Amino acid sequence: MAEEFDLIVVGGGPVGLSCGWQARERGARTLVLDKTGFLNEQCGTSGAERHWRLQYTQQDLFRLTLAALPEWRRLESLADRKLIHEIGSLWFGDVTVSTNEGRIADTARNMDRFDVRYEWMTAAEIERRFGFRNLPSHFEGFLQPDGGTIDVRATLGALYGLAQANGVVLRGGEAVRELVPDADGVTVRTDRGSYRAAKVLLATGPFVNDLLEPLGARLDVNIFEMALVSLRLAQPDRDFPFWFVFQQPTEDDTNLFYGFGRNPWSPHEQVRLGPDFEVNPIRHASKATGRPDPRHVDRVSAWVAEHLPALDPEPVRGSTCLAVLPADPNRQFYLGTAGNLVPHGENVVVCAAGWGFKFVPLLGGICADLALEGTTTHDISRLSPTRAAHEATSAR
Ligand code: BEZ
Repeated sequence: MAEEFDLIVVGGGPVGLSCGWQARERGARTLVLDKTGFLNEQCGTSGAERHWRLQYTQQDLFRLTLAALPEWRRLESLADRKLIHEIGSLWFGDVTVSTNEGRIADTARNMDRFDVRYEWMTAAEIERRFGFRNLPSHFEGFLQPDGGTIDVRATLGALYGLAQANGVVLRGGEAVRELVPDADGVTVRTDRGSYRAAKVLLATGPFVNDLLEPLGARLDVNIFEMALVSLRLAQPDRDFPFWFVFQQPTEDDTNLFYGFGRNPWSPHEQVRLGPDFEVNPIRHASKATGRPDPRHVDRVSAWVAEHLPALDPEPVRGSTCLAVLPADPNRQFYLGTAGNLVPHGENVVVCAAGWGFKFVPLLGGICADLALEGTTTHDISRLSPTRAAHEATSAR
């Protein structure tokens, strides 16, 4: 007899643990499976910090960050530790440049609409306040003081602890081989045996298509192995908010860079920066090398040498993260049931793709809503998973 659960979560990363904890809190017998083991830094969660921001260009996503904030506060309170560090979120550059992350001018209009405070700044003010230099004079931007960074490891630890304390069955090192949805639920076959559940959540990050493809569907996602570098502070007293520079793309890359300030859990004299280059997608997450593309590291160093005298442009350390993004730049996430994707997909909830760490406690709650109630009060209509229109052709 297969062991039975109300919900099986495939993928024990931040979203999977967040959903597992909240589903169990609502009384559901919940199993979370992770093929690697918990609290690892694989998939998109690599690295010590992630950007926390309220502002979004898209109004539905803006509403979701506003809804995520009280969920972060609840998580912080249950875990009895601070997870969001409000060092501010600074967006600057060419205010009309449009990227997957948004547009500065439209986002400022949304902050007015949602009554979110910010300070508008010229290039000269940004240079004076934060130590940038040689910014093109037409650059402008804003500081949203409630934004900042999220402590990734503390968040994962908090979610794992809550899942465990609430009685979620956590099985690491067990790989799901097959999902078989039917009218009454889903059979989940792993390398150790079979389970049965009324619902399944697929929270497998860049591996999402591995379990959908055998069912005849795939999400149109691109996987980018993006570089991150740690740089030493040349001016020991200098600190930064989280910053993101929106520039016109070059012929070779999307020409976007971001950086974090100091944080209490990393080497004090270093900060991390990355290029957000949505170029050269990899064919499958298993093709990730863990080594940053030297050209991208050089581009970060060159930008720093030109614009950030407070940092030594020579990297101390390099790493990568896997960014999984919908191929359609107008949609930032896939979130909903697989009803439109596969037969009996109404029993499979999918949460995949997008820069989602900032939504983690909320995403877990929404996935639990979808799995246990069949619906959610949050507006996720635009994010509903749909089939890939075509196979990606440009992936290496
Ligand atoms: C974000 O806030 O969603 C984000 C931050 C840095 C790089 C890419 C996305």
